[in-house]
Amino acid sequence: MKVAIGSDHGGFRLKGEIIDHLRKKGIEFSDFGTFSEDSCDYPDIAIQVAEKVAGKEFDLGILICGTGIGIGIAANKVPGIRAALCSDTFSAHACREHNDANILTIGQRVVGTGLALDIVDTFLNSKFEGERHKKRIDKITEIEKKYSK
Ligand code: RB5
Repeated sequence: MKVAIGSDHGGFRLKGEIIDHLRKKGIEFSDFGTFSEDSCDYPDIAIQVAEKVAGKEFDLGILICGTGIGIGIAANKVPGIRAALCSDTFSAHACREHNDANILTIGQRVVGTGLALDIVDTFLNSKFEGERHKKRIDKITEIEKKYSK
């Protein structure tokens, strides 16, 4: 499995902790920044990770900002992306199983490191269940197509 990861300055510390965790688990990843705590704009990071995931160069993405909200809103503008904000492990598996989420977003200012790492493990280890959920994802794709130029 290949994971694309990125954060703005508001998620920089947690990104480092998640990267250490991925390394320990032997999970392949690429870091798309940011690379310091200097202020930056979360859409600039979101688009890089989202394009890599939408283009299937990476299986899943992880994006972190202060709340996990802005970076997820930006990522969801890229066709094919279903970014899910999770602050609990139930959402982390449900968003894979039911929504086929392909990017996890987390708020560094919202969840502690221990919970964030459990959320990451849960997200990466869960699978889309298909069946009745597939037609709902297809309907999301239809909405996306309707508003794409
Ligand atoms: C940056 O201060 C902060 O606005 C950003 O990390 C994020 O929380 C936005 O949604």
